Parts: sequence; C-alpha cells; structure tokens
Amino acid sequence: FPLVVSSLTAWAVPQETPEDRIVKAFRGQSDFLWGSATASYQVEGSWDRDGRQESIWDVFSHTPGNTHENQTGDVADDFYNLYPADVSRVASYGFNAFRMSISWSRILPLGPDGVRRPNIEGVNFYKRVIHLLLDNKVTPFVTIFHWDLPADLDWLSESVVPAFADYAEFLFETFPEVKHWLTFNEPSSFCANGYGSGTHAPGVKSKYKQYRCGHHVLKAHAQAVAIYRAKYQQVAHGKIGITLNYDFGFPWNGSSDQDAAQLHHDFNVGWWADPIYLTGDYPASMKDRLGSNLPKFTEAEIAMLKGSSGFYGMNTYSAMYVKADVSSEKGFTELRVGVDGKEIGKRAASPWLYVVPTGIRAYLEYVHFRYQPQSIYVTENGCDVPGENEMPLEQALNDTFRVDFYRAYLDNVAAAVLNSGVPVKGYFAWSLLDNYEWADGYQLRFGLTYVNYTTQERYPKLSAKWFKLLLNQMVRQS
Ligand code: NOJ
Repeated sequence: FPLVVSSLTAWAVPQETPEDRIVKAFRGQSDFLWGSATASYQVEGSWDRDGRQESIWDVFSHTPGNTHENQTGDVADDFYNLYPADVSRVASYGFNAFRMSISWSRILPLGPDGVRRPNIEGVNFYKRVIHLLLDNKVTPFVTIFHWDLPADLDWLSESVVPAFADYAEFLFETFPEVKHWLTFNEPSSFCANGYGSGTHAPGVKSKYKQYRCGHHVLKAHAQAVAIYRAKYQQVAHGKIGITLNYDFGFPWNGSSDQDAAQLHHDFNVGWWADPIYLTGDYPASMKDRLGSNLPKFTEAEIAMLKGSSGFYGMNTYSAMYVKADVSSEKGFTELRVGVDGKEIGKRAASPWLYVVPTGIRAYLEYVHFRYQPQSIYVTENGCDVPGENEMPLEQALNDTFRVDFYRAYLDNVAAAVLNSGVPVKGYFAWSLLDNYEWADGYQLRFGLTYVNYTTQERYPKLSAKWFKLLLNQMVRQS
C-alpha cells in the first residue's frame, strides 16, 4: 500500500522538465530573438552568377586536395534561388530571427579596372531576402564577414583594414532596415585555420601569422563600429557587435590547473574580448608569451578599440580540459579525457565536438563577470550527429541526439539567466539547413532541416519540430 501511494504521488507531481525551465527563463521577453543561423558561402551557391567576384573560399575549394572530396560551395543549398521557401521555413519553425551573412564579393566586387563597385544584382538579392524576412516578422541579424573574403584581399596586409571599413559603411548605408550587425564571425577560427593550420582558406601555414591576421581584424572591427556610431546608428536605431567563439576550458586537475585554464581563456577569448570589451589591448599573458610575434596597437588604436561593441555575440559548441604545460609557449595543453579517465562528453560527428552542456553556461558566466557586456546573443550553438550522413532519410530525420543536445544546452543557458543574471537576449541554432561545412564539405550535417543535395529538397528534422513546440509553449505562457 505505501508503495502505491508514493508512486501515485510521484505521478501526480510531475517533475520539472528542461523545457519547463527554458520556458520559465525566457517567456514574456517579447524582444528575445529566437533564430537559426546561416552564412553566405555555406548556403548560397551561385558563386559565379550576376557579377559575383571570386572569394578566397572559391579559390581554396577549387584547388584539389583542400576539401573533403574536393567539395565546393558552388551550389551549396542554392539559397540564392530557394530563399523564399527557406525564409518561410524560418517563420514556420516559430523563429522570430534569422542570422545570415553578406558575401562581400557578391555585393562589392572588384572591377577589371581594380576598383571595387557596388553590384546592383548583389544588392537586390540581399534586399529581397531582408524584406521577405521583415514581411514574415523575422528580424534579420546580419554578419558582415563570415570568412568569404574577396580573392584579391588578404588579412595579412594592412590594406584590408580600410577596405573592410568601406565595405561595412556601404552595408550600413544600403541596409538601414537591418538593426543587428555583427562585424565578424569567429575571428579566431578564420585567423587560426586560414593563417595557422592552413586547413581553411587561404591555406597559409604559419605559427604566428594568425596574430597579424587578428591585428588587422581588430582594427577593421573598431573602424567599422566607429563609422556606424558616428553616422548611421542614431538614424537606424541599430546595434553592432562581434561574434567570438569559445569551447570552454575547464581546469583538468582542479586548482592546480586554474592558471592554465585562465591562459586558455586569454589566448582564445581575451585575444579579442580584452581589446574590445576591457582594456583596448591584448591580455598581458599573450604579450609576455608571444613577445614581438604579437603586433602592437598605437594609443589611438587602443582608444578606438576599447568599448567598440554594443553587445557580445557568442558561438559555442563544446568544451575541453586544460592542463598546465611549461614546455608549451602558451603554457597549457588541451585534453578531452579527465583525471577520472573519462572523456569529457559524448561525441558528436565532428572530431572536435564533444557534447558538454555545462560549457555554454561556463562561457556565458565568464563573459558576464569579466566583460559585463550589456547583452549577450548566442549567435551559434548546435551539433552534427554521428553517422547522420550515412543514414536513410527517415532515420536522419529522427535526430533525437540533436534534440537532446539543444534541450541540455538551453537548460544551461536558462540556468545562467535565472541563477547568475546573465543578460542573454537571443539564441540562434546552427543551422537552419544542412550546409557546406567548409573543408569538411557536405558530410557533416548541422541542420534542423535535412537537405538532399541532389534534388535540393528540404525535410524538417525532429529538432525543428522540437523548437517549434518549445517556442509555441513560450508564446502561450507569455
Ligand atoms: C562555426 C562557424 O561559424 C560555422 O560557419 C560552422 O559551420 C559551424 N561553426 C560548425 O562548425
């Protein structure tokens, strides 16, 4: 008899689910942006259409040996032609925001005379996409640079800085209807992969050139923000920020690796966030350890950088352990196996992606306490699924692995908001569609929507339906 009573009681008082906590944290915030994200080169295709100039990714992917099965973004998701259905899809999933990037070489290509001029067909394409979003009550969140640099430019050359500032100004002038701008997406990824490991365009392998790339990126960011603030922001009532990625580094062996973990934060986040949100300059640890291999800012540049962002854009997917290592220049090594001998999380499909939901909370709290930005937007979070590309369609659509990922990560975002007061104002799933995963080609699928690359047909996965239900519940409880 007592057994029956206790099980009845348990049944009568349902446990709070992650979805309940997520809804509790965000309901009633009508200006909270819920969206999914994309990037021009990964979805658009039409690489040589309507006056688009080549970007470094066209050159890189067209060079044999650089990408998985030499796959390119020539067609990708054909978003250039199929955007009307994709925009409707965004709205039909219940999202009120969409993150996209603009292809610099499509909108402001270099002419044969060596002069960069607006390409009206490129402008019209983005106008059509943005207006369709707005007609569907979806807020466009626009990244100015998501890695597809015009092929004549190079982040190692100082001349890219004024070129970027001109390009950004052209966008501010042309698209006053955009109220959320990101100057750069993941500068540490494109500098470290493009000019460090050489695994991404333009494929330069070097130990220290990534810091020169980063130096130019930071100056370009500061100039673009200064132009926006001086001439466009008041009229447009918009916001401008940057997206910095980090997979959080937890100390491997408790307090003995705490300093190493701080170095890891410095070299990954502080590299960008200290100049932009704190001091105008690089962290002392980076200056000490890199010496003359880290370029220096002038006093004027420091003044321009400091405070040069209205919000913090955050991309995060995973987390790792960090262990002190005196033999390494940076002072740490990264590990995925803990002192307990266990891997830090379940593995997704990308070799770097271990599922560690507490990582997003740790990154949110770290940024909130150290940098105190007015608001934080999670501009990318998501995963690929082991074996998804090899599965029959029905099985791929039943992506419970991805649903579990979003449920657990969003539960941690909710905890950061409810327990630590982190001012999260938006969350974007990566990605709306399966798409071109850079050097890994089409084999890794991050979409809420399955894309058949032969027919370009799209199929919503269970994860898309999960978001739709969650967002419906949020609206109903507001
Ligand atoms: C980061 C990048 O911004 C995006 O382009 C990429 O596809 C995802 N992460 C997944 O790796």
